[in-house]
Amino acid sequence: MNRIEAIYSLINEKDKVVDVGCDQAKLSLMLARRNQRSIASDISEKVINKAASNIESPLIDLRVSNGLDKIKDGEADTLVLSGMGTHTIIKILENTKLRFNKIITISNNYHNILRSKMNDLNYKVSKEQIIKENNKYYNLIVFENGNMNYSESEIELGLNHLDEKMYKEYLDFLLNKYNNIKKSSKDKNNKIDVLINLINEKRNQL
Ligand SMILES: C[S@@+](CC[C@H](N)C(=O)[O-])C[C@H]1O[C@@H](n2cnc3c(N)ncnc32)[C@H](O)[C@@H]1O
Repeated sequence: MNRIEAIYSLINEKDKVVDVGCDQAKLSLMLARRNQRSIASDISEKVINKAASNIESPLIDLRVSNGLDKIKDGEADTLVLSGMGTHTIIKILENTKLRFNKIITISNNYHNILRSKMNDLNYKVSKEQIIKENNKYYNLIVFENGNMNYSESEIELGLNHLDEKMYKEYLDFLLNKYNNIKKSSKDKNNKIDVLINLINEKRNQL
C-alpha cells in the first residue's frame, strides 16, 4: 500500500473530504472512482491549473486556497494534510475556526511536535500507520476530537499502530539511525540516549 492508498483506506464513503495540498489530486481521483465527492485544494494556482487540465470528474471540486482559507463551514468533516511539514500543518489549523471529525496527516518531519501541538488544538491521536514507499518510511497519523495525556514514548514514537510488522521495521530503522549518530558523535547527546531507550522499551513490548 502506498501513501495515498493508505489515506484512502481510512476514509469512509460518507466522509466529506477536503484534501489540502492536493497537488495532482490523486486522492480525490480515487474517491471519485467510488462515486465520492471531495474538495481538492492547493496553495499553488499552477498546480491546480495543471490538475484541472487532466481532471474532468464533476465529483472533484478543485480550489486554489492557502490552507483552509477558501473552505466554508459545513463543506467538509474530514481533512487530509499530506506531504507537508509539521509547522505548515499546525499553521493551517491555527489559522482556521473550522473543526473536523477526522484529520489524516502525513507530515514530513517532527511527529513528536505534531502530536503535542495537535493536542493543544484539541485533536488527539486515534491511530497511526507506518508506510514504506520507495524505500522511505512515512508516518500517517489519524486525529480525532479530544485531548489526552501522552507518555514520553507516545509523543516520540506514536501509538495505536495499525500495521505492527511495519511499525517494528520502522523502530529497527530508527534504532540503527540513532546508534549510528551516537557512534559518530564525540559529545554525549542525552536526547539520542533517551530515544534509544524508548525504542528498546517499545521493541520489547511488541
Ligand atoms: C509534496 S506535495 C504533497 C502532495 C500530496 N498531498 C501527497 O501527499 O502526495 C505538497 C503540496 O502542498 C502544497 N502546499 C504547501 N503549503 C500549502 C498551504 N499552506 N496550503 C495549501 N497547499 C499547500 C504545495 O503547493 C504542494 O502541492
